[in-house]
Amino acid sequence: MAEGDRSTQKLLVAALATSLTTGALAAGALIAHGNVATAAESPDISVTNTKAHLDQLQSIATSNGGNRYTGRPGYKASADYVKAKLDAAGYTTTLQSFSTSAGTSYNVIAEWPHGDANHVVMTGSHLDSVSAGPGVNDNGSGGAGVLETALAYAASGQTPRNRLRFGFWGSEELGLLGSKYYVNNLPAAERDKIELYLNFDMIASPNPGYFVYDDNPAGNGARDDLVSYFAGKSVQTEFIDVQGRSDHAAFRSLGIPTAGTFSGAEETKTSAQAAKWGGTAGQAFDPCYHRSCDTISNLDLTSLDRQIDAIGYMIWTYAQKDYTGGPPPAGDNLLQNPGFESGTANWTGTSGVITSSTGRPARTGTWKAWLQGNGRSSTENIGQAVAIPASAAASALSLWIRIDSAETTSSTVYDTVKVQVVDGSTTTTLATYSNLNKSTSYVQKTLDLSPYRGKTVTVKFVGQEDSSLQTSFVVDDVAVTAS
Ligand code: PHE
Ligand code: ZN
Ligand code: ZN
Ligand code: CA
Repeated sequence: MAEGDRSTQKLLVAALATSLTTGALAAGALIAHGNVATAAESPDISVTNTKAHLDQLQSIATSNGGNRYTGRPGYKASADYVKAKLDAAGYTTTLQSFSTSAGTSYNVIAEWPHGDANHVVMTGSHLDSVSAGPGVNDNGSGGAGVLETALAYAASGQTPRNRLRFGFWGSEELGLLGSKYYVNNLPAAERDKIELYLNFDMIASPNPGYFVYDDNPAGNGARDDLVSYFAGKSVQTEFIDVQGRSDHAAFRSLGIPTAGTFSGAEETKTSAQAAKWGGTAGQAFDPCYHRSCDTISNLDLTSLDRQIDAIGYMIWTYAQKDYTGGPPPAGDNLLQNPGFESGTANWTGTSGVITSSTGRPARTGTWKAWLQGNGRSSTENIGQAVAIPASAAASALSLWIRIDSAETTSSTVYDTVKVQVVDGSTTTTLATYSNLNKSTSYVQKTLDLSPYRGKTVTVKFVGQEDSSLQTSFVVDDVAVTAS
């Protein structure tokens, strides 16, 4: 798209005036909403300015031994550069330091001090490189793109409904250390305020693909918005199951909806992908991935330009999203810590049930709820309270369960786990699984919670064993949804 279009705002105002007189609102026009104006169409985020940030990151690497690696001066200089730009634009910034095996590392956190602080829309990128090179595509590209979009938002004069926060993570390359440190040090009440986390790690790969993360059980709204944004620009996308490969994983494991894009790393572009995206089939998306040649020459500026406009679209859109009323978006998980990756947080019940012990596999991550399995006459339980919106058309509880047992009978129930709903003084058992349901893999179960709309109930798992021969009921990735 054309650069430096300073007339965008004026054109939108003109379009709004016209549409009001004709009674039809153009897509993306301003719509009055109480005293908060909703978003104007997102602007063209400047690829020239973004490239200038990348030039700075390259020169920081060049003057600091060729890299921006954790514990080396090029990383701290990168963090200082980003922080200074955000400070000058009016952001409230924090340099959060933490220690790693390779030295001190830093996250830069920047918040735009306007909008409802109870509803935070967060966007992030890792800012560190590997030690081999300057890391211009991985991940100068994401860092520069998110930085430039944050600066453009500050300059836009928008009045956000929600609070916008940006994270520039340290030590992603050492195992997502910065983003993990950030979420682990965020009080539970602050975690609950984060409505969405968007991640951008590698967005200007020289032989680019257009991948959209598809790995979040907490809601697909943002993923779908990215797909339709690109489709509207005639760019086809593919889903990618990124799982633990970038910083959104820390947010995802808290049950926060996440999304992101990726232009590809060491994987080879297929001929079908080259047909839709151009570039070279049979070659890596980024042949310089994690190498010394990931320099300022290792960029596709068309990819960068498209991706930063997508970041702008998402930020402008989600800045105005109304998180205060109505039912939660269909598909959103109403449970906190639904995959147990924050340990016992948000759950109550028998201690030791929620565990990262390796005796049984988690379905995702390392933590799960392991009920029973001791071969003694005993009971154990865990539960969590959840408010089910009255306005929902339906509500469901889903869970994944893996049952192994030393019992050999094919007909007699000895050991059970009950899935219960506690509504005031009334406890209802929705399902019972037993030693007869044993299986070597996790199985998904879905149960109806529609009768509990408009109530706050406790979802509970109660295990019970008889005096001998263990049965283990292992539960992971629980969800309560309302639609
Ligand atoms: N996180 C990887 C890295 O920094 C890159 C990556 C991003 C891989 C997104 C897959 C998906 O090396
Ligand atoms: Zn990397
Ligand atoms: Zn990366
Ligand atoms: Ca888990």
